[in-house]
Amino acid sequence: MLDAVGDLDVVVRKIRVETSEIRSFVLESASGDPLPAFEAGAHIDVYPLPGICRQYSLVNDPADKSRYVLGVKREPNSRGGSTAMHGQLTEGSRLKISRPRNNFALRANSGRSLLLAGGIGVTPLLSMAQALAAKRADFVLHYFVRSAQELAFRDFITRSAWADRVFYHFGLVPPVLNDVLDEILNAPGRDDVIYLCGPNPFMDVVRSSAEQAHWPAQSLVLEHFSAEPPKLTPGDSEFVVRLAKRGIELLVPSGKTIISVLREAGVDIKTSCEQGVCGTCLTAVIDGEPEHNDVFLSDEERESGRLMTPCVSRAKSKLLVLDL
Ligand code: FES
Repeated sequence: MLDAVGDLDVVVRKIRVETSEIRSFVLESASGDPLPAFEAGAHIDVYPLPGICRQYSLVNDPADKSRYVLGVKREPNSRGGSTAMHGQLTEGSRLKISRPRNNFALRANSGRSLLLAGGIGVTPLLSMAQALAAKRADFVLHYFVRSAQELAFRDFITRSAWADRVFYHFGLVPPVLNDVLDEILNAPGRDDVIYLCGPNPFMDVVRSSAEQAHWPAQSLVLEHFSAEPPKLTPGDSEFVVRLAKRGIELLVPSGKTIISVLREAGVDIKTSCEQGVCGTCLTAVIDGEPEHNDVFLSDEERESGRLMTPCVSRAKSKLLVLDL
C-alpha cells in the first residue's frame, strides 16, 4: 500500500515522442498500487535532478488511477528540468514525484466550458475535457499551436469520444488571432466559464479579447503556482527561487548568485554589468523578500519589494517568487 502522505516513487512505463519538442510520459506507481486520485487540472512536482523541482500538469482521465500521464516540452537552452526529462529518463527509470495538487479546478458551472489551450498548455485542459465529457457537460476545446507538426496528443484526441468538440488553430498571430478569438468568445452566456492555459503572450491576448467581449473577470480560470509553499527544502544558508511563469523551483546556495543558478538551469536573463549598477537584469518579484545588494534601485523601489537585480541581490525570505 502507498503511504497516505509524502512523495511517491514511480516508474516511467512509457515515453512517446509527441512532436519534435514534446514527449509524453506514462508514470506508474513503483509498488504496483493504484496512484492517489486527482482532479482534472491537477499537477504534480517532479524531481528530475537534485536541486530542481518542476511542475507538470496531469493529462489523463482523472478516473484512471493506474497511471499519471505528463506532457513535457523541451525548453530551448534548458540544462535543467526538461532536458533531464527528455535526455535522461528512459522507459523503466525510477522517479520521485509529489502527490497531485490542484490550483486549476473545474467549476460547477451550469453554462458552457470553453477550454483554450496555447501549445503545451493543452495538458491540463485534456484532463478537463475527459472529466467534462464523462459528465456530459457542454464544452469545447480550442487548441492553438504553431503548426500541425507541433500538435501534441493528436492521436489521443482523435481517438477520444469527444474529438468533434476540439477545434485546431494553426500558426495564428495577431491580428488574425484576435479576430478568431473575438468569434470564439462572442456572446458569453450565463455561467459560461473560460479555462485558459498557455504561454503568457497567448494568455494576455485571450484575456484582453474576453474583456472586450464583456466576459466577467471571474469567468476566466487560469493556472497559477505562485501561492504555494516551496517544494525544495533550503538549507541554513540557502533559499529557493521559484520562476512563476515556468513552474520551476531552484535552490540558491550561499556561494552562487541567482543569475548563475538560473543559467545553470538554462534560463538566461539579459545582464550587462553583473554588479548591480546598470539595471539590465531588473526582474519583478511576485512574492518573498529580496535582499538588495545593488546600487541601481531607488529607496522607494527597494522598499516596495517588487523589483530586484538578481545579478547581485539575494533573498531574506526562504522563498522568492520571480516573474520569470
Ligand atoms: S546586470 Fe547590471 S544590475 Fe544586474
